[in-house]
Amino acid sequence: MQLYPSMMCADYGNLAAEVAALDAAGADSFHCDVMDGVFVPNITMGLMDIKAVRAATNKPLDVHLMIENPLNKLDLFVDAGADIIYIHPESERFVAKALVAIREKGCKAGLAIDPDTPVCAIEDLLPIVDYVMVMTVNPGFAGQSFLEFTLPKIERLAALKQEHPFTLVIDGACSPERIEQLSALGADAFVLGTSALFGKGDYAESMARLRAQEG
Ligand code: DX5
Ligand code: ZN
Repeated sequence: MQLYPSMMCADYGNLAAEVAALDAAGADSFHCDVMDGVFVPNITMGLMDIKAVRAATNKPLDVHLMIENPLNKLDLFVDAGADIIYIHPESERFVAKALVAIREKGCKAGLAIDPDTPVCAIEDLLPIVDYVMVMTVNPGFAGQSFLEFTLPKIERLAALKQEHPFTLVIDGACSPERIEQLSALGADAFVLGTSALFGKGDYAESMARLRAQEG
């Protein structure tokens, strides 16, 4: 099981200390949500925030681009220190071109799909992605409720991992109970926000508890 703290939920008055604590607590990667206020109705982390996280840890940064037309902005995030870049197929006219470009720039390629985007919309792209991230909330805000209708999609993607070696990531309202349930369905990694980590006490204890519950 891989655990990715969602850095939009961190304390920005003490960002470097937060990153150090999460790193020491065993975070596998740092999830950086980038939003442009157009593709989603919110604006969150910017390039300076990503550079600050980059400077505070040697662990991977996964950058979740919830922005329109990410293809022509990839270099900004590569230069800021991204290791994995997720794009939304709903936000880009040239999805395959963008995924290939991400890999050509030395990053891992990820596809993040909205709750209402079906598996069939991305199945043909699975040979050129390293990560598939299922949004189990409508993208844009932390603290929302899990959308139950996404469960069959997670099961379908878990089955497709037999044919394509991608990592299946869940992003949105991942509580300890949900993580246990989705791990059993075949999900590999979880974005941790307010449902399981931030505001839940000691980071190391929270992450250790999540790992202990893994079957
Ligand atoms: C949603 C964000 C996530 C996540 C935050 O757009 O991408 O980071 O929802 O975690 P929760 O949902 O647990 O507050
Ligand atoms: Zn995200």
